[in-house]
Amino acid sequence: MKTGNQNPRTSGRGAVKAPRLAATIPRMPTTTPTYRIAPSLLSADFARLGEELKTVIAAGADWIHFDVMDNHYVPNLTFGPMICQALKPHAKTAEGVAVPIDVHLMVQPVDSLAAAFADAGADLISFHPEGSSHVHRSVQAIKAKGCQAGLVFNPATPLDVLDWVIDDLDLILIMSVNPGFGGQSFIDSALRKIEAARKRIEASGKDIRLEVDGGIKIDNIRRVADAGADTFVAGSAIFGQPDYQKVIGAMRAALKD
Ligand code: DX5
Ligand code: ZN
Repeated sequence: MKTGNQNPRTSGRGAVKAPRLAATIPRMPTTTPTYRIAPSLLSADFARLGEELKTVIAAGADWIHFDVMDNHYVPNLTFGPMICQALKPHAKTAEGVAVPIDVHLMVQPVDSLAAAFADAGADLISFHPEGSSHVHRSVQAIKAKGCQAGLVFNPATPLDVLDWVIDDLDLILIMSVNPGFGGQSFIDSALRKIEAARKRIEASGKDIRLEVDGGIKIDNIRRVADAGADTFVAGSAIFGQPDYQKVIGAMRAALKD
């Protein structure tokens, strides 16, 4: 999997402007942001899931976002570890490069399913702090299984828990819709939360990805990136169109200057 977590705010439209320098002083090199697009299989055709996975990888998906709903923590039911295990061998490019499976657990409790998804081939596992009685322990358990660990924040959930666990995280996922369904509209207050999360990541000095999930489209992805996000989940925007490559390409173009 790709590594590195360049700060997307050091270049591009969201860049923090450096003071003007005299012509004799060489310019500092700018860092190219590493943006990632993570199509959510929630909006794929479940009758052709393997084929959809291959098509969206060929179209340029960086990660595969895998939404796990338990009809308890959220009022919907999707897929479990057996489906993840079945898809895992196909989560690679035509050249054989593995494409990380980004499991988003919308479940309560967390630990047993997190372990099952780790065994099923998940690369990253994120959960909602409300779903676990012992958030720190759940994070450690995911990492002990060799996966990257993330915490997910609902639109009305504060970031306070990060005061105590940010150093242990690989990923922070900001929900820009209420979890449970694809195809909802982006909630604008998420932008302020993304900015706040970015500040916390910068203060931690850690290599932590900042992902946003819900209502991401070609026409708002730039605004979300400018707020500080570097990884973008998109379900209906991609799978709702006939040409996935065209959508992903347009998202990448919007992320460029
Ligand atoms: C919602 C899921 C999202 C969803 C996003 O609970 O976590 O990943 O698939 O779908 P869109 O992009 O359609 O909002
Ligand atoms: Zn999700």
